[in-house]
Amino acid sequence: MAIISSHQPESEAPSPTPKKARPREALLSGQELPQDTQEESLRPQTLNAYIGQRELKEVLTVATAAARSRGEALDHLLFYGPPGLGKTTISQLLAREMGVNFKMTSAPALESPKDIAGILVALQAKDILFIDEIHRLARVTEEILYTAMEDFRLDIVIGKGRTSRITSVPLPRFTLVGATTRYAALAAPLRDRFGLVHRLRFYDQAELTQIVLRTSNLLKVPIEKDGAEEIARRARGTPRIANRLLRRVRDYAEVKGNGTVTQAMAQTALELFEVDPRGLNWTDRRILEIMIENYRGGPVGLDTLAAATGEDRQTIEDVYEPYLMQIDYLQRTARGRMATPRAYAHLGYKPELQAQQQLLDLG
Ligand code: ADE
Repeated sequence: MAIISSHQPESEAPSPTPKKARPREALLSGQELPQDTQEESLRPQTLNAYIGQRELKEVLTVATAAARSRGEALDHLLFYGPPGLGKTTISQLLAREMGVNFKMTSAPALESPKDIAGILVALQAKDILFIDEIHRLARVTEEILYTAMEDFRLDIVIGKGRTSRITSVPLPRFTLVGATTRYAALAAPLRDRFGLVHRLRFYDQAELTQIVLRTSNLLKVPIEKDGAEEIARRARGTPRIANRLLRRVRDYAEVKGNGTVTQAMAQTALELFEVDPRGLNWTDRRILEIMIENYRGGPVGLDTLAAATGEDRQTIEDVYEPYLMQIDYLQRTARGRMATPRAYAHLGYKPELQAQQQLLDLG
């Protein structure tokens, strides 16, 4: 059965990755978790109130204004990037700006052609259909989408074998918004059918601090600017993680202090939760330590890192590596992954160690 919902989209969708984050890792996972119950109510309600992703907001503001003035549906859009950066939120805001319905589902929920067909025929003109994890679509579903996206037509095969025939049903002009953490896993014909493709980027310190302050205000948590900055520094460039850390620190400040989130309070609480000063957790540190201690800083293959940390390679590639690369702790090279001088310094290794290891590699 296809899961489709207009109100509480993400919480009803199946877990975004095949493997659930372990409790120790969950706090710093960008993936949505069952305990993120308040996330929906914290979402900004207008593109204007949305903090960060400035270029994308500009592009979308122009696109929605133009589509509205022509009375047309928006072009199909594809958003990609690590989890927790706002793909769903921005899509919901688009529907609001356009004044149309927002229908949400996720690829793993679309098991049979009937599922996608049922959703498509129920759409009204200009509606936004959001498909999460679009790289996981079944082949048959994907092929139905090709004609739906391009010709606004639903081709259904009726019957089997020699007596089967195709019936075409016209569809209203709708907008498909696809979201994925894995752009490269999308079939080229699907990619080519999106008029606008945009990668969501990690948020900088200033943006995350603003988000933490905004959420504190909504949740009525007393917070000092330094406290918000401390949380922002450890949030891996990801608003969903920033808001989750804020809730943990708030609990700590209420129990151990007077309720106000100060910098010292945030630091102590996040150390207790094993979130280090750059937002690394056990697995991030383990990945880097294995590279440095067992492989002279790399290059190391992804499978080796997966075996050594007990994570699956997809999670390392989609969840851990993007942030480690963003903060310049890890590089992907043709020969494998390498730890950078910043990673050595952060983990407390002597700077000379990397030079010595590189000399040994040349020898
Ligand atoms: N809450 C989560 N992400 C946000 C964002 N980008 N702007 C404002 N509030 C948010």
